[in-house]
Amino acid sequence: MAPVVALLLGAMPAVAEEAPPGASSCFGCHSPTREGATIPSLRGRDPAEVAAAMRAFRDGTRPATVMDRLARGFTEAESLAISAWVVR
Ligand code: HEC
Repeated sequence: MAPVVALLLGAMPAVAEEAPPGASSCFGCHSPTREGATIPSLRGRDPAEVAAAMRAFRDGTRPATVMDRLARGFTEAESLAISAWVVR
């Protein structure tokens, strides 16, 4: 039994590490490490807040230079998965 449990425990973080489609592209601009940059880091944010921003960018209610176009490339479901991932 023990090896099975160890295997499961070992496998779970690996699954969580995998970025949903499109999520790693966010770090091209939103540096996960460089805090205080012109473009804010998304790490540590509330995922609901990130998802709400993406929604507002997508429907044009929040003015943007690039995020409006980027956000329109994702469905609401994709956007939610990305939001949960980029804040980690
Ligand atoms: C090409 C560079 C670029 C990429 C790639 C990018 N962003 Fe952005 N992001 C920006 C800029 C610039 C802003 C400021 C708003 C604007 O001008 O569009 C911003 C703003 C935001 C904000 C609002 C932040 C705040 O504190 O107000 C969120 C949330 C966000 N982006 C999420 C994302 C997510 C999620 C992704 C990946 C799908 C992503 N961004 C990819 C450049 C980028």
